[in-house]
Amino acid sequence: MDAIALLTRDHREVKQLFAQFEKLTERAAKSKEKLVLKMIRELAIHSAVEEMLFYPAVRSAGLKAGTRVGEQVADSILESLEEHHIVKWTLSELEKMDADDERFDAKVKVLIESVKHHVEEEEGELFPKVRKLLEPQMLAELGVRMEKAKKLAPTRPHPRAPDMPPGNIVAGSVAAIMDRGKDLMRDVLTREKRPQA
Ligand SMILES: [Fe+2]
Ligand SMILES: [Fe+2]
Repeated sequence: MDAIALLTRDHREVKQLFAQFEKLTERAAKSKEKLVLKMIRELAIHSAVEEMLFYPAVRSAGLKAGTRVGEQVADSILESLEEHHIVKWTLSELEKMDADDERFDAKVKVLIESVKHHVEEEEGELFPKVRKLLEPQMLAELGVRMEKAKKLAPTRPHPRAPDMPPGNIVAGSVAAIMDRGKDLMRDVLTREKRPQA
């Protein structure tokens, strides 16, 4: 699976979580919290892998190309990083929030809207340009590295952490270890309530 196919598959999975959430009734608090935890995990891993591998490769190819399309691609990567940043803040707030909080549903709604907008831009504008910019071989190799990185990426949002290399690679690997430790604790504590981590 090449890099773009992998990211598109992730997008589809996240959109399925959104659809499941939208089907729930107002009072399904526990199911809402569970789904939001899944969204947080999937989106944290997805954005980390984009920021560590896909975006830097695409941006440097864009800048190197020295063409109009190359420039547009490099600029849209910067815009993507800002969109990720806003999404990560929302995720980090949701992580600490119970579904019965009066702002929970509205926050999830805005999260879904921002992620859908971002995904539309990636799939509709960025990815077709990237296909022209990067060789199929390069996209395939990137896909293999991204698939591996998904297993080692942070599982929680870190809006204050660096989002470009080398800072995000260093901070990301430390965060990933801590996140996965916390995830384990959460799984071990088979409590209904989430620990306020
Ligand atoms: Fe994406
Ligand atoms: Fe993205």
